[in-house]
This record gives sequence, structure tokens and C-alpha cells, in this order.
Amino acid sequence: MKQAIALRGDLLDFTAAPSWGDTRSAAVRWRPDHWLLLRDGRIEGALPGQQAPAPGYAREDHRGRLILPGFVDTHVHSPQLDVIGSFGTALLDWLETYTFPAERAWADPEVAAAGSARFLDALLAHGTTAAAVFPTVHKTSVDALFGAAHARGMRLLAGKCLMDRNAPEGLRDTVAEAERDCTDLIERWHGRGRNAYAVTVRFAPTSTPAQLALAGALCAADPTLYMQTHVAESEAEVRWVAELFPTARSYLGVYARAGLLHPRAILAHGIWLDDADRAALRDTGAQIAHCPSSNLFLGSGLFDWHAGRHAGVAVSLATDVGGGTSLCQLRTLADAYKVQALRGERLTAWVALHAATRGPAEALQLGHEIGSLEAGAAADLCVWDRAAGAVGAHRLALARDLHEELFAWLTLADERCLESAWVAGVPRFRRSP
Ligand code: GUN
Ligand code: ZN
Repeated sequence: MKQAIALRGDLLDFTAAPSWGDTRSAAVRWRPDHWLLLRDGRIEGALPGQQAPAPGYAREDHRGRLILPGFVDTHVHSPQLDVIGSFGTALLDWLETYTFPAERAWADPEVAAAGSARFLDALLAHGTTAAAVFPTVHKTSVDALFGAAHARGMRLLAGKCLMDRNAPEGLRDTVAEAERDCTDLIERWHGRGRNAYAVTVRFAPTSTPAQLALAGALCAADPTLYMQTHVAESEAEVRWVAELFPTARSYLGVYARAGLLHPRAILAHGIWLDDADRAALRDTGAQIAHCPSSNLFLGSGLFDWHAGRHAGVAVSLATDVGGGTSLCQLRTLADAYKVQALRGERLTAWVALHAATRGPAEALQLGHEIGSLEAGAAADLCVWDRAAGAVGAHRLALARDLHEELFAWLTLADERCLESAWVAGVPRFRRSP
């Protein structure tokens, strides 16, 4: 059945990457008071607000609201809604004290199914329509997540966590099991609907060199697979990796040696990298998922976004829940601004919003499908109120130009401003009246 929908509001997306520090970037596509036309799950085009869409379109008038591409979260953990906001630890203790025990429960298919549905509905309710997700080591957790994403029509990258050492009983696999499970899951889910498989190395300390070699072999066998992992998040972790892999040049070097750096690789954090690491990321086309809320919460460090930019490394924005404290990319962008401020840098609203939309879409080679309001792209988009309360409304009304307004918006707004989230032209979240 053909379905045509027209949404009226202020359209904002990007046609290219905005330059660092440029508040008047020509890469911003701002179309105030326009109709966004959707047909059969895709974006068809746009019309100025005064020009009525043809009679066949179902219309929704959101005048005064912002319409943006759905946010892309390039690094988040589905089981960790169970531990979000846990007190008092840094990364390695946090994993042992809270996270590993919680993830064990996901071996149970019922826990995994209920948890995956809860997680994806929460993502949508926070304005995120596409994500790269870590479930657990258990195959059940991957089946449940992909199944739930498929039911919602979401673009999702995920894979079974590989971890064959330095993890408690019930959370470890072996190289042979991992190979069997990955092969099976890839066959079942990679390219099914909008799902794609990501070879998921939890992090270097929880995989033996033999398991890292398996991960590299899987990537080499099929270049359409993604790869996701953590790298150089905390200083204690970096020291541990140096002990475990004494001949590696650096933490990133462990992954490079295993053949895990490629254009579909997403490495979370990358706080404690050096220039040679950044050059390796640039040369291989691997991207960094920057997770400011998690880095602040766990006290991991202040990511040097500008150095990454300068070196030509793609940097996207991610929540890293449950190390991160919110699934909302607006809150995460506000944290990213504060992290850069502590480094003496200032993040523009444009670099920030691009890093949660078109930036990751392109870095994941999905720019034709997600991250923009371009004709032909999937109709994955969100309708946002400008302000959730009197303070926001007051501040935004005083803004003198578009950057000032959008910067104040992303600083003050949060998921309470989300009116609706659309996936492939279907409203999958609507705020209750
Ligand atoms: N490093 C290895 N596992 C994790 C995880 O679950 N969260 C974070 N933030 N870092 C990790
Ligand atoms: Zn993480």
C-alpha cells in the first residue's frame, strides 16, 4: 500500500561536515516552515509551508517545532539499563561490581527479550532511531535484540560480545563457541531487514590473542561486516593492556595487529591515544565513538576531539549507557560541549549535531539511508519541541541568530522535548498528550 505523509515544521539537517568553530557553516541546511514529504517509508522531498501538499498526503502540522533526522548512537549497551547510574567506581571496578553481574542474566531468553524491547523503546523515546549496540556474550541476547529491532524497522548494528578471559563464569565463551555463534548469527541476521552484524570484541583485556585473531578473520572474510570495541578509555585499562600485550606498540596496536581496523570499525572512547594511533585510525577509515557522559561519570578522561579532527579521524557521538547516564543525545551533546570547554575548546552546535546525525551515517557508509532529510533516505526522523519549560522558552526567544538558538536548544532541551520519533515513515514513539 502506498502511504504519503506530510509533516510541517522547521527542517534542520546537514549537507556536509561543518568546520570546527564555524558558527555560520554553509553545511547547515535550515528550511524553516516547510512540509517534509514522506512516501513508502522514505523521504520524498520538501515544500515551503505555504505550498499545500497534494490531497493524497496525510498531514501533520508541527509549526514551531524542529524536525531533525533521528539521532544515531554509535555506542550503547542494551543490557546496561540495569546498571545506569551506579555509584562510586571507575571503569574496571564498575565492570566487575555492577556490569558483569547484571549481564549474566541475559542468558535467559525471557530476560533478553523483555530487556531488548525495553531498551529499543527507550532509544526511540529519546530520539534515537539507529544505533550500534553491544548486547552480551550470550547468543540469546543478540537474537532478542535483532528480533526486536526488526519488529520496529530500526537500523541496528550489533553482535555477540566476544570475551574468553578475564570475565566471570557465565560470561565467558571460547574461541570455538565464538566462531560457531558468530557464523550462525551472521547467517541469520546480517542484512536481514535493516540489521547488520558487527563483530563485537568487548575490549582487548577480555579476549585472548586467539580470539582477536578469530575476530580479524571474520572481518577479513566479509568486508560488509562491522566491527565494534572499546579502546583507551581509562589510564588503568591502558596499563593493563600493556601488561597483557607486551609486544604491542599501543592499545590500538593490539587491534591493528589483529586486522580489526577498517572502514566499518567503531572504537569507543579513544581518550588515551597518541598521534601514531590517530594516523592509524585515519589511514584505515576506522571511527571513534566519543562518549562524553560516560567519560565524565566514570572519571575516564577528557577526549581530545580537536586532535582527532586535525588528524582526519571520523568522530561520532555516543551515549555508552550504562557508563553513560542518559540515552538522550541532546544531553550527551551538552556534555560533549563541557568536555571540550575543559580542554579549552568550544564545540559548535553544528559540529555537535552533525556528529549525532550525518557524521556517523557517513562514517558507517550509511549516508544514503540515515542521518539526513535528503530525498531518498529512510524516513527516520524526530519532531522536537523547542523548549520543555519556561526557562528554555525564555532563553530561545532571546536568541539573535540560528546558531545561538540551536546551541541554547541542545544545551537546555532533553527527551521531554521529543514529540514523536519516526522510523521508516512510521511513528514508533509519540509523547502522551
Ligand atoms: N570496556 C569494556 N566493557 C565496557 C563497558 O561495558 N562499558 C564501558 N564504558 N567500557 C567498557
Ligand atoms: Zn561501552
